[in-house]
Amino acid sequence: MTKRTYLPLLTLLLAWPVVPVAGFAEEIPAAANLCLTCHQVTVESDRAVQGAPPLFYAGNKFNRDWLESWLQTPTRIRPAGGFFADHIITSEGGDSIDTASLAPHPSVDSAAAKQLSDWLMSLRPHDQLIAESSEYSPAPISPRLGAMDFVKFKGCGGCHRDTPEYGGVSGPELYTAWQRLQPEFIVSYIKNPRAWNQQSSMPDRNLQDEQIHKLVNYLKSLHKED
Ligand code: HEC
Ligand code: HEC
Repeated sequence: MTKRTYLPLLTLLLAWPVVPVAGFAEEIPAAANLCLTCHQVTVESDRAVQGAPPLFYAGNKFNRDWLESWLQTPTRIRPAGGFFADHIITSEGGDSIDTASLAPHPSVDSAAAKQLSDWLMSLRPHDQLIAESSEYSPAPISPRLGAMDFVKFKGCGGCHRDTPEYGGVSGPELYTAWQRLQPEFIVSYIKNPRAWNQQSSMPDRNLQDEQIHKLVNYLKSLHKED
C-alpha cells in the first residue's frame, strides 16, 4: 500500500468516534467477550450464569494488583464454587464438596490481564457508597478474640472461612480478603450488602460501625505479608 492510499484510511481511523457503551466508563475490550458469558458487568444485566460473582462494581471492590495477577493464575475463592448448592453432596456422614464438579476458572495472558484490569477497575458505579462509608483506621486486635467474634458472636464463620481449613463454604474465603479487596469496600459491604448488589445473599446484620471496624481489623490481621 502506498502512502497516498494509506492516508485516507488513517484519517478515517483517527476520526472514527470511540463511542462508550452506555454505563461503561471505558469501551469493553474484546478479551472481555468470554467474561460476559458468565459475569454481570452492568447493574441492569441479569447474571448470565448462576453463581458467577457480579463484576459491575469491580473498580470499587478489588485491589488492582491482585486482580491482574489472579486473572493470569486464578485460584478458587469460593470453596464450593460460585453457587455452592450445585457442588455439595449430602450424605449421612455430613455434607461434602463435590470437587470433581468444580471447573477451573479460565485464565488469560499478561497483556489481556492488564487490559481487562484497566477496564474492570473503571467500573465504579458505587463511588457514592464508598464516600458514605464510615471512616476506618486499622487497629490491632487479639487473634483469639477476633476469631471468637467472627465465628461465635457475629456468625460470619457459618458462610465464610477465616482459615483455609475452617468455616462455611457458601461465601467467599475471607483469609485472603485483605489481599483481594479495598478496605473501604470491606467496611461498606459488611454494613449493607444489598446496597452493593440487590441479589446478594449475605444477610444484613445491622451492625454498628464500631462492630464492623472490629471485624475488619480481624480480617486485616489474617493477612500474611509475602
Ligand atoms: C464459565 C463461566 C465464567 C467465565 C467464562 C468467566 N468467569 Fe470469572 N468467575 C466465574 C465463577 C463461577 C467465579 C467464582 C469462582 C470462585 O469464587 O472460586 C468467578 C470469579 C471471578 C473473579 C473473582 C470475583 C470475586 O468477587 O471473587 C473475577 C475477578 C473474575 N471471575 C473475572 C473474570 C474475567 C475477567 C473473565 C473473562 C476473562 C471471567 N471471569 C470469565 C465464572 C466465570
Ligand atoms: C448466610 C451466609 C453469610 C453470612 C452469615 C455472612 N456472609 Fe459475607 N458473604 C456471603 C456471600 C454469599 C457473599 C458473596 C456475595 C456476592 O459475591 O455477591 C459475601 C460477601 C462478603 C464480603 C465481600 C467478600 C468478597 O470477596 O466478595 C465480605 C467482606 C463479607 N461477606 C463479610 C462478612 C462478615 C464480616 C460476616 C459476619 C458479620 C458475614 N460476611 C456473614 C454470605 C454470608
